Amino acid sequence: MILDGKALSIKILDKVKERVSNLEKQPHLVVILVGNNSASEIYVKNKQIAAENVGIKSTVLKLPESVSEEFLLEKIKEYNENPDVTGILVQLPLPAHIDKNKVVMTISPKKDVDGFTPENVGRLAIGLTPYFYPATPQGIIMLLDEYNIPIEGSDAVVIGRSNIVGKPVAQMLLQRNATVTLCHSYTKDLENKIKTADIVISAVGNKIVRCKMDKKNSVVVDVGIFRDSNGRLTGDVDFDLVSMSAGYISPVPGGVGPMTIASLMYNASKVY
Ligand code: GUN
Repeated sequence: MILDGKALSIKILDKVKERVSNLEKQPHLVVILVGNNSASEIYVKNKQIAAENVGIKSTVLKLPESVSEEFLLEKIKEYNENPDVTGILVQLPLPAHIDKNKVVMTISPKKDVDGFTPENVGRLAIGLTPYFYPATPQGIIMLLDEYNIPIEGSDAVVIGRSNIVGKPVAQMLLQRNATVTLCHSYTKDLENKIKTADIVISAVGNKIVRCKMDKKNSVVVDVGIFRDSNGRLTGDVDFDLVSMSAGYISPVPGGVGPMTIASLMYNASKVY
């Protein structure tokens, strides 16, 4: 069965729109984009369109590649203090002369719609509810829940240990009582771990999941998105091969991608 992220994202965005229309204060998301990374420009544009579609005010602050770290930090502090701004997102990656961690640590945890600040990451790690869960992991969990996939007691294999996807999704699965194996480039015998899992979540950026799954109800979630040698959008999972043995599989495109946007809009509609 296909995990249809596109269909679920539409349902979620409808709910977010309704929720926003009932709020006393209109949420206002500020997205900060530094430099001219073409992928980032597309992501930011999509976030802006999605926000406007659900009634969230959005402002994009475009800063040149050469902007100083000091200037960027000052801007974030201004938005932290500004009561009209309810959410702040700094699009990553940042130019090499800017310390990403310093930038993330400057964002107020109550406006950190990405869920990247130490307070939100730490709250997740110690079992407290963060102000915001990171968008992609939250979107993946929403997708699993939509299809009533049992997480408790499952053997979950997460491939990739990024701060944006791998680490937080592993924490969220652990919180829901899965037994989590967090795999990365040094992991031995990866294929055996994948094929014996109940749930596989791959967030790597190359074709790494290409085996027959042992369990007929296994679930394979593909977070990767990149262009293959023919220029076509593809993911980490060999869809044709893996879909023959997995019980559930998310497509690329139309799986996790739209869920990330819907989940981010859900976050951006929260006003603290
Ligand atoms: N770059 C790639 N993914 C993300 C994300 O989820 N948030 C931000 N801020 N930057 C990103």
